[in-house]
Amino acid sequence: MSDAPAAFAVYGAPPPALADVPAGAPQLSPLSPGSTAQEPLDDASLDEIVMLAPAGTLERRYAIAQALRALKPEGRLLVMAPKDRGGTRLAGDLTLLGASFGETAKRHHRICQVARPADLAAVSATIADGAPRLDPDLGLWTQPGVFSWDRVDLGTALLIEALPPLSGRGADLGCGLGLLARKVLASKDVTDLALVDIDRRAIEAVRRNVDDPRVTVHWADLRGVEPALADLNFVVMNPPFHDAGAEDRALGAVFIRRAAGMLKKGGVCWLVANRHLPYEKTLAEHFSHVTPRGEGGGYKVYEARK
Ligand SMILES: C[S@@+](CC[C@H](N)C(=O)[O-])C[C@H]1O[C@@H](n2cnc3c(N)ncnc32)[C@H](O)[C@@H]1O
Repeated sequence: MSDAPAAFAVYGAPPPALADVPAGAPQLSPLSPGSTAQEPLDDASLDEIVMLAPAGTLERRYAIAQALRALKPEGRLLVMAPKDRGGTRLAGDLTLLGASFGETAKRHHRICQVARPADLAAVSATIADGAPRLDPDLGLWTQPGVFSWDRVDLGTALLIEALPPLSGRGADLGCGLGLLARKVLASKDVTDLALVDIDRRAIEAVRRNVDDPRVTVHWADLRGVEPALADLNFVVMNPPFHDAGAEDRALGAVFIRRAAGMLKKGGVCWLVANRHLPYEKTLAEHFSHVTPRGEGGGYKVYEARK
């Protein structure tokens, strides 16, 4: 038997009541800036992985398949998900992957203890199904799991239509695949554009989708203090209003506050939001003039001047 310490990793934030995660275990979720990517992990290199699986089907199967690939033959995957966010589908996913598993239920989660399959054919096929690809219809690099990964979001389309040519230094907060950035960079008066997103998959895609020397790319959670941008002329954004699958209106308010903090006086923030979201109060608190600039398909566009 080897004396090497067990190689452990965690994906997401499994509820502490359902799994023990050793301190210092590397984080594998792409939604955690600075985390370790699953893709470069060596085959058969880890003893144990604990995973709170993501809700989206292709994304969940991909993350589980990557975990099984990286497990040693005698390794163990403990994967769980809330019943209403993929949990009831875990057993079907694992069967499709050719894995043997035991399943329990606790605290509204399904929890599966999984062994690495001897035959990895289905695992490899599932990794191919969830991998980054060039979407011919979008004309963009994309990957299942990224926001609106295979279609143009209606809100994004409305903002693209409303955006005037901008100038100077700016940022695209929550840049996703880079659709807003491409529109912004069509103006030759834009000198710098910072692209920020929490999702490593979006960051990797946007590096390929927006190949422009005026751009810098930041893998960051805007709820923190990074990136430290200041004195900008403009910000564009389609702020998220979901976190971990649940509606989170506070997240949109954070984006508005961060945008205001990055702008110089007189700088402008263009944003689109679902019509039902009450962002007007937050906008009024951080900007001196807020003007509606478009509405349609359940979305509204604002120009907010600091
Ligand atoms: C509604 S999508 C908009 C994406 C893109 N701008 C578009 O219009 O297609 C919001 C984006 O914000 C990112 N995001 C969510 N929470 C974030 C956070 N805390 N910090 C930074 N980015 C975040 C998501 O990954 C997603 O790409």
